[in-house]
Amino acid sequence: MSKVLVLYYSSYGHVETMAYAVAEGVKAAGLEVDVRRVPELVPEDAAKAHHFKTEQDAPLANTADLPLYDAIIVGAPTRFGRLPAQMANFWDQTGGLWAKGALIGKVGAVFTSTATQHGGQETTLYSLMSNLLHHGMVISGLPYSFQGQMKLDTVTGGSPYGATTIAAGDGSRQPDENELAGAKFLGQHVASLVKKLA
Ligand SMILES: Cc1cc2nc3c(=O)[nH]c(=O)nc-3n(C[C@H](O)[C@H](O)[C@H](O)COP(=O)(O)O)c2cc1C
Repeated sequence: MSKVLVLYYSSYGHVETMAYAVAEGVKAAGLEVDVRRVPELVPEDAAKAHHFKTEQDAPLANTADLPLYDAIIVGAPTRFGRLPAQMANFWDQTGGLWAKGALIGKVGAVFTSTATQHGGQETTLYSLMSNLLHHGMVISGLPYSFQGQMKLDTVTGGSPYGATTIAAGDGSRQPDENELAGAKFLGQHVASLVKKLA
């Protein structure tokens, strides 16, 4: 059976929550899914001082496993409008896979979290995507058939470039129902594309 990887980094749990919503969408579409996270790079005392959520259930990802998947959906919070070093560091170790063309033709998609509405959601999604494009992956966005991204009556995430949430400056806001639905939709949509390409 085709298999999808949801690969994420999360300091405070917002992207982690979104990752499981994406995985739920993949499962709902009938494909197998693994949720994996990339290793923390911030020193332990700094992570504690900044109240990072250091305990997370997802096993650590291994670059050697990437070729086993038919699709890879990547999520990470913004860092100054781009992907965090933790996620970049993971992809920086995939040069060998790139040289072999091991990920060419796989489906890719992305999701993110920012503190503020205009704090860099789309630039972060693009910076996550560029890793996948250089690997020759076929990128899927979040289609407008997920109509939740059109909502204007309330502050909420969602973008044609990928699923998103907004965490607030102090991290107090959690992914809302609409954002989780967007994440699930993305998982389901990617799974449907995998089935078409199989
Ligand atoms: C070093 C650093 C830079 C950040 N830069 C931005 C930024 O440019 N725009 C923004 O909206 N949020 C920014 N944030 C807030 C994070 O994006 C926010 O904590 C994150 O979305 C929460 O997701 P998580 O719980 O999965 O870690 C930054 C946070 C840190 C630690």
